[in-house]
Amino acid sequence: MQTSYDEIPYMGRVHAQTHPQRLAIIAKLFNFPAPKIETARILELGCGDGSNLLNIAYQLPQSTCIGIDASSLHIERGQGMIEAAKLSNAKLVAENLTSIDESWGTFDYIICHGVFSWVPIEVQQKIFSICKNLLSETGIAYISYNTYPGWHMYNMFRGMMQYHAGKMEHTEDKIAQAKAILQFTTLHTLDSSSPYGQFLGNNIEFMSRLTDEYLFHEYLETNNHPLYFNQFVEQAAQHSLQYLGDTEFHTMTPLNYPEETKATLEAISPSIFELEQYMDFLRCRRFRCSLLIRDHHELKREVPLDPFLDLRFRFRAFAQSLIDIEPTERPEQPLSDEEHDIETTLHAISINDANIEDQDLTAADVDLYKSALELLNDCYPQSLHFSEIIAQCSTTLSRVIEQEEQIDLCKLFQSLFIKNLIHLELIAPTFVTEISERPILNPLARYQLTYQAVVNSALHDMILVSDPWLQQLGQRLTGEHTLPELIETLKELQDQEILETPFETPPEDPDKELLVLLKKALQIFADHGALIG
Ligand SMILES: C[S@@+](CC[C@H](N)C(=O)[O-])C[C@H]1O[C@@H](n2cnc3c(N)ncnc32)[C@H](O)[C@@H]1O
Repeated sequence: MQTSYDEIPYMGRVHAQTHPQRLAIIAKLFNFPAPKIETARILELGCGDGSNLLNIAYQLPQSTCIGIDASSLHIERGQGMIEAAKLSNAKLVAENLTSIDESWGTFDYIICHGVFSWVPIEVQQKIFSICKNLLSETGIAYISYNTYPGWHMYNMFRGMMQYHAGKMEHTEDKIAQAKAILQFTTLHTLDSSSPYGQFLGNNIEFMSRLTDEYLFHEYLETNNHPLYFNQFVEQAAQHSLQYLGDTEFHTMTPLNYPEETKATLEAISPSIFELEQYMDFLRCRRFRCSLLIRDHHELKREVPLDPFLDLRFRFRAFAQSLIDIEPTERPEQPLSDEEHDIETTLHAISINDANIEDQDLTAADVDLYKSALELLNDCYPQSLHFSEIIAQCSTTLSRVIEQEEQIDLCKLFQSLFIKNLIHLELIAPTFVTEISERPILNPLARYQLTYQAVVNSALHDMILVSDPWLQQLGQRLTGEHTLPELIETLKELQDQEILETPFETPPEDPDKELLVLLKKALQIFADHGALIG
């Protein structure tokens, strides 16, 4: 089947929020018994080249992962990844998702990212009915979509781009002219200080950073049907599905708003659906990732502390600039990575976090919080289970951490999670952080580098590898080559003029300098959880 994606392929991406682990955690927080992720059957609709699904299959080798996509080119790329990573638990099918029927069996997790808004209405209905018919009893479906009110604003760009690009015959010209008309309109609007001029001005940089394939499929394709959150929930209900939650948990709660706003939101919102809809108005939300389950399950909406005691945490101290401490304290420039520190973080948390502010903190509490956050920051990007954190803090502080203190620490983590400042995990991803003698890059990433500059990581995130030097290096990190051998290969690529020299002036000892560069490059992969050996 030939589709527009065969002409302009969509770059393979992983989407952290689609991972069954994230879905299961949200379920856990609402007391819903999500299926075990390790052995789950997982279906991805419109899986593109499979980057997302295959990363899940790679991390959960006991699971069964099936993906379907209408573009044969996407599926061909995915097959390449399956072979490169020798995945025996994954299968990709090049077909229209409308062909799916009950012979496919049931699935514990159904993922549909970046598809729903971009297909005709009858295909949207099919997506709902696949979820209705194929979800296992406690299965969870994930559907993302463009939403209003945010998309009312972006529809303006879409309209202008479609009008102008529609006059062009060839796809490349359509893309170039879609960009050109936005530039022209922004630069020549009659009054750049008017709300219209300001909106154009504020968005031109964002729009100009969009990749060609993204711009084409989002702004120039025929189908793009945003809808309001409440419309999505109503349509799901017509297919016997109910809303479980949003993968961005912090967006579900009004706790992050000032007291007065929160009080009004609560007063006008008899249900969680209304509350979330009103918060979309406040945020001018334009994209949603909603989770659905069968409608006969009863959900308890209060978020208990218990699940946090049995989770893993990943945390990185943050810089003052990342959080609104006090306007006068904000640095002019964003702080560099090195400037992220625990003191700043604790200061910011204590000022911004009601839970901590309300507590009468003793010096011992502060020591424990500091020790726990320092520990997590030091082992980043590794995560630690709550029990490991307690054990290690106990060793660092040379004292027993009492039950009550453990609960307080857990409350701190809960409030950091509600503010989207800490990541939760069910299972520890597998990767190495030290550079070995013969480094190995995740095989999916190695294969991706043969056709694109974005690769998967064990953190189920994407790494942008725009430097040609890193792209060539990454493909060769098979565990067969030592660092000196890799340097020799990179030198050969320079001699063949496939790579340019990385030095502005020739160094005295090129091998030594190349080794420094090589280690730096490898560290980039390691810091993002992409090295597996
Ligand atoms: C915007 S891309 C998203 C790809 C991937 N899910 C992601 O988010 O990175 C949309 C994908 O849906 C696929 N698609 C669109 N309509 C489809 C249909 N009716 N059946 C199967 N796949 C479809 C396209 O081929 C394309 O790969």
